[in-house]
Amino acid sequence: MSHTLFPRFISFEGIDGAGKSTHIPRLAEHLRAQGQDVLLTREPGGTALAEKLRQMILHDAMDALTEALLMFAARRDHLQTVIEPALAAGKTVLCDRFTDASFAYQGGGRGFDVQVLQTLESWVQTSPQSGGVLRQPDVTFWFDLPPAVAAQRLAAARQADRFEAQSGDFFEKVAAAYAKRAAAYPTRFLRLDAQQPPESVWQQL
Ligand code: TMP
Repeated sequence: MSHTLFPRFISFEGIDGAGKSTHIPRLAEHLRAQGQDVLLTREPGGTALAEKLRQMILHDAMDALTEALLMFAARRDHLQTVIEPALAAGKTVLCDRFTDASFAYQGGGRGFDVQVLQTLESWVQTSPQSGGVLRQPDVTFWFDLPPAVAAQRLAAARQADRFEAQSGDFFEKVAAAYAKRAAAYPTRFLRLDAQQPPESVWQQL
């Protein structure tokens, strides 16, 4: 891991409706109150270009390869222009989703070729700025929630985008892919029981 005292690149993952969006800004405030210089960002997005790509990815019809390529194009721009410079400046980066989401949604949900995702991951996340090694989060908080519970929460909430409008079967596959990823990276992934009430999830975090 690239940190010494505290993890500096922290990502947050989970299926839609798992409650990430209430907790990440709160964690940012908590860390700022402790004197940390915090960058709060998200994927797909986090730069002007990547936010434009986000709009297309979430709302325009496309095939699975196009979706994967745009996701990694957005990630490349975000890494090069925002995340790597922030890490180099000693900031703590809180990123709402990162590459694990591509393995979960494109790999699991869409059934897209995981080897191609691994190739894209290695192209996109390795650069002189990363010291020539694959850039990964130091820690990933995984908001683990049964898909059926997430679906109930989403139904009561916002207008669905291309992902949120998917079937229960899709989210079962996404959730299974997250579990597989967590098992593959047991020291990086920290599981939160996101079925608990918000205050309890916050305490875990
Ligand atoms: P958000 O609603 O948490 O901001 O995420 C936007 C959607 O994009 C969410 O449904 C998950 C999806 N997504 C992917 O499919 N692959 C990815 O690599 C990322 C970062 C997000």
